[in-house]
Amino acid sequence: MERPFPTVAVVGLGTMGAGVAVAVARSGRRVIGIEADEEQAARALARIQEATAYAVTRERLTPEERTALLDLISVGHALEAAADADLVVEEVPEQLELKRELFAELDRICPPETVLATGTTALSVTRIAAATARPERVLGLHFFNPVHTMKLVEVVRTVLTSPQVAEDAAGFARDLGKEPVAAGDRAGFVVNGLLFAYLNQAAAMYESKYATREDIDAAMRLGCGLPMGPLALLDLIGVDTARTVLEAMYEQSRDRLHAPAPILGQLVSAGLLGRKSGRGFYTYAAPGSSRPVDAADGPALPKVPGRTVRTVGVCGSGTMATGIAEVFAKAGRPVLLAARSQEKADKAKAQLARSLERSVTRGRLSAEQRDAALALVTPVGQYGELAEVDLVVEAVAEDLAVKRELFATLDEIVKPGAVLATTTSSLPVISCASATSRPQDVIGMHFFNPAPAMKLVEVVSTVLTAPDVTATVLELCAEVRKHPVECGDRAGFIVNALLFPYLNDAVRMLQEHYATVDDIDTAMKLGCGYPMGPFELLDVVGLDVSLTIEQVLHQEFREPGLAAAPLLEHLVAAGCLGRKTGRGFRDHARR
Ligand SMILES: NC(=O)c1ccc[n+]([C@@H]2O[C@H](COP(=O)([O-])OP(=O)(O)OC[C@H]3O[C@@H](n4cnc5c(N)ncnc54)[C@H](O)[C@@H]3O)[C@@H](O)[C@H]2O)c1
Repeated sequence: MERPFPTVAVVGLGTMGAGVAVAVARSGRRVIGIEADEEQAARALARIQEATAYAVTRERLTPEERTALLDLISVGHALEAAADADLVVEEVPEQLELKRELFAELDRICPPETVLATGTTALSVTRIAAATARPERVLGLHFFNPVHTMKLVEVVRTVLTSPQVAEDAAGFARDLGKEPVAAGDRAGFVVNGLLFAYLNQAAAMYESKYATREDIDAAMRLGCGLPMGPLALLDLIGVDTARTVLEAMYEQSRDRLHAPAPILGQLVSAGLLGRKSGRGFYTYAAPGSSRPVDAADGPALPKVPGRTVRTVGVCGSGTMATGIAEVFAKAGRPVLLAARSQEKADKAKAQLARSLERSVTRGRLSAEQRDAALALVTPVGQYGELAEVDLVVEAVAEDLAVKRELFATLDEIVKPGAVLATTTSSLPVISCASATSRPQDVIGMHFFNPAPAMKLVEVVSTVLTAPDVTATVLELCAEVRKHPVECGDRAGFIVNALLFPYLNDAVRMLQEHYATVDDIDTAMKLGCGYPMGPFELLDVVGLDVSLTIEQVLHQEFREPGLAAAPLLEHLVAAGCLGRKTGRGFRDHARR
């Protein structure tokens, strides 16, 4: 097959256009670069020369390749030059009228078969196409910044784009070494549509003073393995850009979750646009710098002294209980691992031993450390043995009645002054606390699975938790090498309240046939550097577990946009729960 689009015009050679011009020339195609005027054209050429010279110093290009590449690029300021191109890629500033006028001109200048592509992030491709008499040959090609490293390209079809044109554009993207994903014309397309709703919720969470900016960012990095926290990412993207994208999303969806958080507007009005202006959610060393100067280094320090914790009791015999017992034992604390029967407790300790053994095999733990940790764990078959411990961490079934009964029992057994913690992910901590006569001593310690590996612990204080109890848990987390973040007792805490609405949005995108499972997963991994796509993650977490969390979030906040996507409910009803049943969004059994 012939290579699609041997000659490409790029109109607008700023951040994106210059990157696209170089990527296209690298594929051996002729590039006609067009800028607004002579001066801009000279500057753009200098930018391309500099960028490619830098690529040579970084050994991404040889000097010969650079010369050959530059020979393929011409830069001028006459739009008429686009008449020689098979494809025109527009990368001018994000203004609808500017783009529409440009497309009307290009339509007049270019032969009828020329394909016209817009690089818009948030404007309607359909409205841009409507400025031409060839909407079937107009589409969006959404590259990511920086173009030379980001492999993703969203190929955006309007209802009028010819399928052949979209296919050729995808082939062209592949030829540039990129990975194209197909998207329809909707504000934000796949990546930004999912990303910005989440960033907006994080900004709103910060604005409501539910948690500090450092804690929100650390929670998402450490709890979900994201490359950056959401507030640091907003600073990188630009608070103004984020607000513009969200405005466009809201205009189309009328979903309040897309209405830009008021704090974004305040920052924009104050000129605090993020890294580029030297200050946004954080303050940076200088405009353009990536080094924040006012961010706290580690976890927040307790404001009052905590209580002394020498011994720990862990209730439960499942994955979380044994994982948490392992965390404390490895940090040198004596642990009573308490289950409903001695047999269950013994089994839990055996599981803990296997986990330690795996660490030894992988070279993460010495045999002496394994033996020392194991010796610190005593399995007990009744809760009565917990009378003298300083902290109890409860990790029994996620069922309020079961947890309340356990807290009532602990209240009778455990010595006064001990801290009682629940690991619940979706139940109110205060409901556990109110089952006791000492709610001031009750707190949430939300560990992540697998507890020995995941550094994050959400420390959840209720309205009744005593400050020295919060301090005790913050100090203890640091001592056992976990990273605590502080938050209040509301549904989803930090991580799940930000993660699950995003996962739900992805399911809704699929349900609306906007994009496929594979395209959405690929787009989020390549476009945002996420370790897993949303459907991979849902299949691992379990669709039933995810549905429960989404229902709890919806019940708490009553936002219509948080209602669980019907597709998720249907899959759960059909018993497709993800990896554990062999089928969820993907069929794992057949692999
Ligand atoms: N910067 C990003 O991270 C990013 C990422 C993906 C997509 N986008 C989208 O890409 C497009 C370009 O954004 P950018 O960041 O490269 O902008 P930019 O401001 O860096 O560059 C725009 C360039 O267009 C030129 N220009 C203005 N009017 C022109 C005209 N009439 N004819 C020819 N050239 C003209 C300007 O001189 C400038 O060099 C926008 O639609 C933006 O939303 C940006």
